[in-house]
Amino acid sequence: EEARAALRARILRLLAERRAVLVAHYYTDGELQSLAEETGGCVADSLEMARFGTESDAETLVVCGVRFMGETAKILNPEKRVLMPDLRATCSLDEGCPADQFSAFCDAHPDHTVVVYANTSAAVKARADWVVTSSIALPVVEHLTARGEKILWAPDRHLGRYIERMTGAEMLLWNGACVVHEEFKSFALERVRRLHPDAAVLVHPEAPAEVVDQADVVGSTTQLIRAVVELPHPKFIVATDAGILWKMRQVAPDKTLIPAPTAGAGATCESCAHCPWMAMNALQNLEQVLLTGDQEIQIDPAIRERALIPIRRMLDFAR
Ligand code: 13P
Ligand code: SF4
Repeated sequence: EEARAALRARILRLLAERRAVLVAHYYTDGELQSLAEETGGCVADSLEMARFGTESDAETLVVCGVRFMGETAKILNPEKRVLMPDLRATCSLDEGCPADQFSAFCDAHPDHTVVVYANTSAAVKARADWVVTSSIALPVVEHLTARGEKILWAPDRHLGRYIERMTGAEMLLWNGACVVHEEFKSFALERVRRLHPDAAVLVHPEAPAEVVDQADVVGSTTQLIRAVVELPHPKFIVATDAGILWKMRQVAPDKTLIPAPTAGAGATCESCAHCPWMAMNALQNLEQVLLTGDQEIQIDPAIRERALIPIRRMLDFAR
């Protein structure tokens, strides 16, 4: 305990010395989230993280999350230093969509508008017309469909199918998935729902369709947190990374939160769904990166300039 308090105090000092601010995702460790809040940083979903970075006057952004979040921050703020506790924190969606193969897919369908999920590399974004996060994917695709555009979507096929179903758009889909959300099993969720008939079911749209079908609310991490506050239900079954429970408990301490079961017979442990890459962010390596300044995001300027266009388009649309 004492050692942790000392570590926190050293980090606070380093943040001030370096004029650095923490930009954390809801899936990271609760200690990081509370530190980000206390020090004027942000804890947010991926769209709000991107926006926060552009509005901050800090010299250094320390992005606690996964690599695409750090890259987006750098693309939007080339004059700022962007550090991450561990640059190896990737995402299965990003890994499953290599830029060269994606580019060939786009070349094969030149008459399609290319819409990519934020969970992609800078090089993939550089090939896109639009970037979207889960919080804004539906209105963007509705807007494009109303203009009669044909859409090519990558990389998450579950989110892609969900968007198709909700908007009526017909999209060409890349075959990617999130290894964390794919683990939610519909049969096990049905069992937990029977045990808790008074619970509302909250699902992130990266989950498979049979899980999304059981949801009362489908949305981005911020949207799911809002639902816990706004819905009258006393209980919530939460089908997304268990890191989100920290914020849900903070904003709705009187509600009962039940992590949705992953593979297995109705198990409901908190460690069931946790992104291994989000888990690479900790106080220890945060201190290290503030001391050494290594783990800095660097992006090829040509890719950065090109990737900025669809990211800006998203932020402008979201306003
Ligand atoms: P959000 O944009 O909803 O925060 O999602 C990011 C993510 O990686 C979900 O797995
Ligand atoms: Fe990527 Fe899934 Fe981890 Fe989100 S939870 S960062 S989509 S692997």
